[in-house]
Amino acid sequence: MRISVTGLGYLGAVHAASMASLGHEVVGVDVDAARVESLALGKAPFFEPGLDELLTRVQSSGRLTVSTDPGVVAGARVHFVCVGTPQSAGSLAADLRFVDAAVRGLVDHLGEGDVVVGKSTVPVGTAGRLAGQVEAVGATLVWNPEFLREGFAVRDTLHPDRIVYGVPAGAAGERATAVLDEVYAAPLSEPTPRIVTDYPTAELVKVAANSFLATKISFINAMAELCEVAGGEVTQLADAIGHDARIGRRFLNAGLGFGGGCLPKDIRAFMARADELGAGEAVAFLGEVDAINTRRRVRMVDLAAGMLDGTIEGARVTVLGAAFKPDSDDVRDSPALDVAARLGELGADVVVHDPQAIDNARAKHPGLGYERDLDTALTGADVVLVLTEWRQYRELDPARVAARVARRNVLDGRNALDRSVWQGAGWTYRALGRAEESAGGPVG
Ligand code: UGA
Repeated sequence: MRISVTGLGYLGAVHAASMASLGHEVVGVDVDAARVESLALGKAPFFEPGLDELLTRVQSSGRLTVSTDPGVVAGARVHFVCVGTPQSAGSLAADLRFVDAAVRGLVDHLGEGDVVVGKSTVPVGTAGRLAGQVEAVGATLVWNPEFLREGFAVRDTLHPDRIVYGVPAGAAGERATAVLDEVYAAPLSEPTPRIVTDYPTAELVKVAANSFLATKISFINAMAELCEVAGGEVTQLADAIGHDARIGRRFLNAGLGFGGGCLPKDIRAFMARADELGAGEAVAFLGEVDAINTRRRVRMVDLAAGMLDGTIEGARVTVLGAAFKPDSDDVRDSPALDVAARLGELGADVVVHDPQAIDNARAKHPGLGYERDLDTALTGADVVLVLTEWRQYRELDPARVAARVARRNVLDGRNALDRSVWQGAGWTYRALGRAEESAGGPVG
């Protein structure tokens, strides 16, 4: 199948490479020349495990070409739209300029029977609004939300846990379904559940899924707030409730909360869209989900201040982690970087370390200190904050780190360290959602 992919960011680059690896002929288009150049050389323009290897493989097969010229999409039969839908400046709503421009740009190059497939996360009603332009040239619009996670993007694209098509009613929808079934023949044969529905349901599935995940995280972080005041242990609480299969342990890791380019902006855009539809009350709870999430960052700063006896100004603070989660270089709405910036604003001498995200972090917060060498970053620290649970931080040897720092204060923002081991090495350990000391009982 000849396929075009418009937008080669975290979603589109992985999608384009993955489709080529399935045997399709893929042309990718992006307005960002540097990104296109990198992909043309078989190099991922961002950090995503497995993507470099996949790109090298598909580049040598000749099945993936990339360009900044929107005209290269002509001749493809299926056109994926993978552009971003960031939060609008000054409101909670999604900014749809890139999606609108991408569809408008494709229309001139479409042929009769082509299928345009929206993968971007959009407010419900967007596909219905855009379908007319596509149908006017004899093509069909499908909305096919993407559920990939950064850090697992290649695996999630090639082996999704479900595939959803939002299609128009009637023969055009049936034809488009058959075309997409051909595109996804490999994952469908695994077998992967496939849900064929209407546009609004497909659009809502995506934001409902991300809202549920955000709610689950904020739920456990709300329990963390309770644990802090009542002397409980949120990690044990999560383990205990997670054994109930109806609840499940995944996405119940309490800590600094969610960030990234998806969960925060998706719940906000959902609230904005629900308001427009007159159903704001139905998702008003997402405002609380967002507020709980932000409170964790404030609490983290308070805990750091407590460990520094209230004197943040001039204190050397080593922040481990800038990415919004491990195995990513993405700092969009990163809780770790936000905490680092807040401490910097309060006058701390902040040094940020991250295995992959330093360049992106520096571009966003140039005023903070950055250090690529972990040992150097730790040297002279008055407090060490572990804010993104990269494996190399989880595996730190507290005795070795102790030899570098000025004071043995560690703040575990992701409940990722073994408290007893750190305490055993003479550290004062604090974490979100856990009692101050382990004297109360058998805690790990
Ligand atoms: C999320 C969804 O998980 C994907 O299914 C979806 O496709 C994607 O958004 C998207 O809309 O494109 P992603 O943003 O890559 O994926 O990251 P997640 O793995 O969901 O993590 C989000 C945030 O929640 C991270 O900051 C992570 O540290 C935090 N988190 C996650 C917790 O604080 N606790 C947890 O238990 C799990």
